[in-house]
Amino acid sequence: MDTAIPSDDRTFEVARRLKPYLHGLSQPTGQAAGLPAWIYTDPAFFAEERKRVFAPSWIGIAYESEVANPGDAIAAEYAGWRFIVTRAEDGVVRTFYNVCRHRGMTLLDPGASAQGRTLACPWHRWTYDLQGRLVATPNIGGNNAHECVGFDKEGLGLQAVRTDTWLGVVFVNVDGAAPPLAEYLKPTIDRLAAFDLSLTRESNETMETAFQGNWKLGIEGGVEDYHIPWVHRQLGPSGDFRGEFSGDRWVGVTCRRTMEMAKRRYDESEGAAATAALPMFPHLPETGLFEASVILSTLPATLVAAVADHVVVSLFIPESPGRTKIRRRFRFIGEAATDDARASARRKVRDAWSVVTEQDGPIIAAMQDQAALKDEIGFRPRYSPHWEPAVHHFQKVIAAKITGENLA
Ligand code: FES
Ligand SMILES: [Fe+2]
Repeated sequence: MDTAIPSDDRTFEVARRLKPYLHGLSQPTGQAAGLPAWIYTDPAFFAEERKRVFAPSWIGIAYESEVANPGDAIAAEYAGWRFIVTRAEDGVVRTFYNVCRHRGMTLLDPGASAQGRTLACPWHRWTYDLQGRLVATPNIGGNNAHECVGFDKEGLGLQAVRTDTWLGVVFVNVDGAAPPLAEYLKPTIDRLAAFDLSLTRESNETMETAFQGNWKLGIEGGVEDYHIPWVHRQLGPSGDFRGEFSGDRWVGVTCRRTMEMAKRRYDESEGAAATAALPMFPHLPETGLFEASVILSTLPATLVAAVADHVVVSLFIPESPGRTKIRRRFRFIGEAATDDARASARRKVRDAWSVVTEQDGPIIAAMQDQAALKDEIGFRPRYSPHWEPAVHHFQKVIAAKITGENLA
């Protein structure tokens, strides 16, 4: 049984099984053969991703707006880790494992939120403040004896997870050894530099959904525009498209369009006529081709889409090998994020993204379902050198992290 295998043996086994595929993967994009389908379904592979892809990275687990005020706490999950994110009286956002220091009960139910100065464990009522300190142990020494000799609360606070924030996202670094967040995100931030993200504010438009497929299928589908004319017909032609990437930090797609194309794209998307009312980033030229969208997946799976008049931040949250949550927030420029006059314009942007996500859902589910068959017949994916360099690069990044080989 899988769980009986010590994890070091399992590591060796997963890396060993992947190695025969590396040669084909390392070929130029037009000739390369991609990774086998079991990387999307195998629980041992998922366990390796937790250890070698997620734990050493900064992973986006929640939004700052979910803990907007001192006293706010929420439960957040990611690939089997259970966290509590808090904002204590000092205003600092912190993350802890959602595990009581007494006998290990879940403090806050998955999906739940709380407001107050403390969090009490439902089992024996050990109580923590929002900085994670153990502040009360009711009845620990007998009825109405809340202290007891030989027991010291000091040092029994909740176990903290390294936390930082950017663009409204709460990021954590599970292994504690990643470079500081600002350094980790620098390649992403540099690539987005043409869009002054500091002008944007989070609106109250949100999207919470899930797809029945591995998290990597979501990334791979999001970094090519090849399928747009058939699957997302309402978006029109993709313009001057480029698949891009930067080392093991991000993969993405960028598109240059004229202002006319950029406006039409959203005007013609699913009822988005009113988006014209939204202000655009001030740097955009009225004539000629310009970079109208830059959509980057910061690895492993935090997506930022900077478009002419809005920014979408998406957290892909792996729940299991075959299921991934999408949590999305929509940002607009200045007042346009919150004023009443643009409420319907904001809703239409959200709806346009929602239609695209729904159109992708059945394809991802079918890809996931086909995995066993594909491995049975020895199938290997192939790539269009024009459209899919970022998909190819993403597979190399994953393979390199899992096997420890250098595939650059
Ligand atoms: S397990 Fe939390 S108080 Fe006992
Ligand atoms: Fe798509």
